Amino acid sequence: MQTATGARWWHTATGYQVYPRSFADSDGDGMGDVPGITGKLDHLADLGIGFIWLSPVYASPMADNGYDISDYRDIAPEFGTLDDFDRLVAQAHARGIGIVMDLVVNHCSAAHPWFRAARASRDAPEHDWFIWRDPAPGGGPPDDQRACFGGSAWLWVPEVGRYCYCHFSPEQVDLNWDTPALRAEIYDMMRWWVGRGIAGFRMDVISLIGKDVDARIYEEGPRLHAYLQEMHREVLAGRDLLTIGESWGVSRDTALLYCGRDRGELDMVFQFTHILEGWDEVLGKWRPRPFDLVAFKRVMDDWQETLADDGWNALFLSNHDLPRQVSRYGSERYRKDSAKALATVLHLMKGTPFVYQGEEIGMTNAGFTRIDQYRDLETLGHYSEQIAEGVSPGAFLEGAARFSRDNSRTPMQWNAGENAGFTSGTPWIGLAQGWPEVNVAADRADPGGVVAHYRRLIAMRKELPIVVHGRYRPFLRGNAQVMAYTRSLGAEVLAVIANLSEEPCMVELPAPMRVSGEALVATHGVRDLSAGEVTLAPYEALAVLGPEAAR
Ligand code: GLC
Repeated sequence: MQTATGARWWHTATGYQVYPRSFADSDGDGMGDVPGITGKLDHLADLGIGFIWLSPVYASPMADNGYDISDYRDIAPEFGTLDDFDRLVAQAHARGIGIVMDLVVNHCSAAHPWFRAARASRDAPEHDWFIWRDPAPGGGPPDDQRACFGGSAWLWVPEVGRYCYCHFSPEQVDLNWDTPALRAEIYDMMRWWVGRGIAGFRMDVISLIGKDVDARIYEEGPRLHAYLQEMHREVLAGRDLLTIGESWGVSRDTALLYCGRDRGELDMVFQFTHILEGWDEVLGKWRPRPFDLVAFKRVMDDWQETLADDGWNALFLSNHDLPRQVSRYGSERYRKDSAKALATVLHLMKGTPFVYQGEEIGMTNAGFTRIDQYRDLETLGHYSEQIAEGVSPGAFLEGAARFSRDNSRTPMQWNAGENAGFTSGTPWIGLAQGWPEVNVAADRADPGGVVAHYRRLIAMRKELPIVVHGRYRPFLRGNAQVMAYTRSLGAEVLAVIANLSEEPCMVELPAPMRVSGEALVATHGVRDLSAGEVTLAPYEALAVLGPEAAR
């Protein structure tokens, strides 16, 4: 509920993303499912999370693991039934956890009945729900636009003698948001899910829905905000739902257009500036640059500033499209310590943190070395394309080992038993390296484990208004080993500092960081920040709350 002071429930909540296919398998078919999630709710409740962002569970041919929906009002049979889903909502609710649905409406599956009708005849009412162009004058695709997952963006449909636009893959046909009947259908579907008791929507690549294909403007097209405002009026207004919009194109200049409090659009925008900063300018994620802490801090600081007084940040380092954060930003050698240090600096910023499954036990990248270990259509599509262009398989596999989406899609590691306790069958994708040591049971048995650290951080957000509302101020911005900032509220200040490197380091603290008070986080024992100088072990993290000292 919005209160007089503007407080919303998700300001103090932490989200947890479940990628259903890889979370927990209840029936032994090698794939996670909805009852599997319900069976693990106690783990999530114990962490203290407030909501689950549930990656798609809808009926789907699974070309993109569910981001290709063929029935928006049903559950994929391999994941369960609507009854299973209702049970998940109820059981989660009983533990104070909301279910946030993944809303994938930039495109639907080519197997969706809408598209089947649309492709059968130019006169079908659904025909206009998709984006069609005639062949080029000499035949062939209308132009050379490429799909994100490889190949042409144009799907030839002989029945109607036209090409259909597919931004991602030929299995994912773009919906034409300029058609009012389509929009009405989507809003109706959203209300139907709201009626089942969900807590909100994470909106997949929502910044694409206003695209202008002819002008090749995809992100933040001319009609995007008109459509989001209409969606808000039709579905969201007056309801206490959380809405998170995924946008790869949003910038500091446009962020508040989505999530400014008076805009009537979304609650927060899930932006990727800190991720994109680490990609090669030409080859993108397949040639990631080494992690550059100074550049990373600059991006994070900028976003804290942009959304300091209006809008709201979604805080995350990993998800189902990104590498494991320990492997990308931390150190597999200092696995637990780097998992904890990264979590500390992220969770104590202003915004709503998102934990991606397995992050809370410090899972690492998959460690795949052969192309046949990969399942992701993006990885496989780019592999074929790049090999055809002369890239060596070894070079591609090196990039994939660091940035393929499958790095974070390996089965959740529950225990040291068969298949890490994920399934009694054959897992749909191989397990990540290290699972016999890296699993929930082993981590929980360790008082200095990663789970315990996450539980503490998540509790701090609920208990301490300074974590939710405190003003953010970065320090030591040019230091390539340390991340340091303060949050201040009233007469209190919370100083947060972490060594994000494999070497010890000694730092001279600026006056506002010399806080003397209670150590809320002290991964290597309590240290005195008020002395003005501190030596931190590799991946040591501290957060100290005290009265505001010198300015
Ligand atoms: C989003 C999803 C990603 C998916 C794509 C197309 O980026 O997070 O997994 O492949 O949209 O739906």
